[in-house]
Amino acid sequence: MSKDPQDPTERDGEVSRREFLGATGAALVVTAAAPVAAVGQAQTPAAAPQRPRTTIRLTVNGASQRVEVDDHWTLADLLRDRLKLTGTKLGCERGECGACTVLLDNTPVYSCSYLAVWAEGRTVLTVEGLARGGKLDPLQEAFIAHDAPQCGFCTSGQLMSAKALLSRNPTPTPADVRAALAGNICRCSNYNRIVEAVVAAGAASKSSRTGGAQ
Ligand code: FES
Ligand code: FES
Repeated sequence: MSKDPQDPTERDGEVSRREFLGATGAALVVTAAAPVAAVGQAQTPAAAPQRPRTTIRLTVNGASQRVEVDDHWTLADLLRDRLKLTGTKLGCERGECGACTVLLDNTPVYSCSYLAVWAEGRTVLTVEGLARGGKLDPLQEAFIAHDAPQCGFCTSGQLMSAKALLSRNPTPTPADVRAALAGNICRCSNYNRIVEAVVAAGAASKSSRTGGAQ
């Protein structure tokens, strides 16, 4: 092939542009064909990598549990998929909606954003643990009485945040309830009735403690 005298890359002792493009194209063809050739060869399947797993002990709704978990499992995964406690709901799965709220040593946590291995030695309370002896918790009774659940998807998370509030502040004001439940979103926007229910549950527990005296 004759050289193009106008092409500055076509000088003696140097790789011309045409030669470079030709060589590059050949290399690309070889590279693209390589996997095809490899497919035809007998391959020894690689051993599947072992998933890191850890055995943890924790107490869930009053029962001691010893479970082996994948290290990447969230507490919600453990509760829902392993322990079958599906009352804890998963909405956003990224710490925004509060549907997955459970109590960890009486403190609300988003179980979608908390690793199961971190719960080693801790005490977990889920919505399934609120009722005692077949009797609903007074907070659950108040939610029913005040029509606090609409679709109900957020309800277990709302109940757990409210339970933590009432344990540290037995007679909250509406403002207290709104502040405590700020991390629990209700897609049905039934906030007023949820707040009414929690305030009523607090008032009812105060009345039962004092025998009705104000
Ligand atoms: S599912 Fe956990 S915060 Fe939304
Ligand atoms: S009752 Fe439907 S999301 Fe709260």
